[in-house]
Amino acid sequence: MDLIQENKPHVVCIPVPLQGHINPMLKLAKILHSKGFLITFINTEFNHQRLLKSQGVDALDGIPSFRFETIPDGLPPPENTNATQDIPSLAMSLVETSLGPFKSVVAKVSGLCAPVTCIVADVLMGFTIEAAEELGIPEILLWTSCAGSLVCYNLYQDLLEKKLMPPKDQSYLDTVVDCIPTMPGIRLKDFPPFIGIINSSDDYMIQFLCAQVERAKRASAIIFNTFDELERDILDSFASKYPPCYGVGPLHLLEKNIVEKSLASIKSNLWKEESECLKWLDSQPPLSVIYVNFGSIVVMTPEKIIEFCWGLAKSKCSFLWIIRPNLVVGDSAMLPPEFVTETSDRGMMVGWCPQEEVLNHPSIGGFLTHSGWNSTLESISSGVPMICWPFFADQQTNCWWSCNKWGVGMEIDHDVKRDEVSKLVIELMEGEKGEVIRKNASELKNKVEEACTSHLGSSMANLEKVIQLMHKPSK
Ligand code: UDX
Repeated sequence: MDLIQENKPHVVCIPVPLQGHINPMLKLAKILHSKGFLITFINTEFNHQRLLKSQGVDALDGIPSFRFETIPDGLPPPENTNATQDIPSLAMSLVETSLGPFKSVVAKVSGLCAPVTCIVADVLMGFTIEAAEELGIPEILLWTSCAGSLVCYNLYQDLLEKKLMPPKDQSYLDTVVDCIPTMPGIRLKDFPPFIGIINSSDDYMIQFLCAQVERAKRASAIIFNTFDELERDILDSFASKYPPCYGVGPLHLLEKNIVEKSLASIKSNLWKEESECLKWLDSQPPLSVIYVNFGSIVVMTPEKIIEFCWGLAKSKCSFLWIIRPNLVVGDSAMLPPEFVTETSDRGMMVGWCPQEEVLNHPSIGGFLTHSGWNSTLESISSGVPMICWPFFADQQTNCWWSCNKWGVGMEIDHDVKRDEVSKLVIELMEGEKGEVIRKNASELKNKVEEACTSHLGSSMANLEKVIQLMHKPSK
């Protein structure tokens, strides 16, 4: 064993095995490595195989102080190995099967490399707290979404008891939930719901989320992929309920400013990036292209995708549309041929792209998004205004922040229609309202940069506080 490594603090990082959670956790792990920690990053076997396939074996191997390990997810092998797994099944399986394999990996890497001194886990991987408590080491939890969504999950049990959630019908959705002083005006429809996709797993997911949020109280600290200037009131309001809470985001900007070049090859995309879309963007005029991407989980009906198709066609705007292989229920190769022909001179479609680079490209003028938290942060960090079509979970709350509070987005109805798509795209790209929200987005971009670039920036300063906690033995 390398003596230098033996003396270094050793952090085990474990994300929820989904793209939108792996991304921020991997960035955090790289930041911690650059701050002098040895890193063991734990993927599920299934996801690690996908990463090796999309990134190439060499990309993840070769840095002895940044190791990858795997645990099984406990599920039978999926039919489609290039798709997001069923989330309720994954959640159930992880709760039931993962603690044993996780503890074995921690024991193994402690012997192989250096004793593990801290666990950094996603809040939703709450089973790991037992391992940290047994070992007497600190556990830092990462909440990968906005702090506001944690407030909402916290209130869920209450709303269930008051029979406000799930909303009985559409007419309840506009009910204002007036007991959150830090989120005045928030409505039931802005809560992380499983409405719209109600099915038999909802009850399990609600119980699962409430249990994880409760368990988070046992951690040494909770860190959020957000920043003080955006959600300070909310982070402060957690003081009486939770261990110390810190905003250390956006992690992708901290990564840019802190991480050594030697880690550049370690990336987290589970799908293979199709970078040729960047060349196409190079050929487009500034601010002329609307970028359309619904993240890694959203699955839509063929009827909805057709509305988006004809809405984009009708807008006459140039677009870059990312159509993930399993985006559409059933057969994904079902875009109307007339749509493809009609838009061939101004539309580019690929299966997966390097999103951060796309959003930073000068030709991008707007983002039609599902309002995943990573996409929201990446968009505001690039000063790109949004059209928001939230689908489920925290996306509704993120959309509310973007559209009603920060003024950087316009919401599109869940029951999407082509005329509304074209109207909002034109408004965003050419209209007066689009101009206003572009200006707001640009102002927010400056604040984000301040939080992450200077040593006095709030996220930079909070990161240092968290690092100090990581060095302390647990109580
Ligand atoms: C999920 C949830 O849906 C989201 O609400 C939650 O906040 C995080 O987990 P996902 O739906 O995938 O995430 O959306 P998002 O949070 O936006 O994360 C997607 C990530 O994949 C982003 O970091 C984005 O940059 C990346 N991505 C996506 C690409 O790099 N290329 C793509 O083509 C699509």
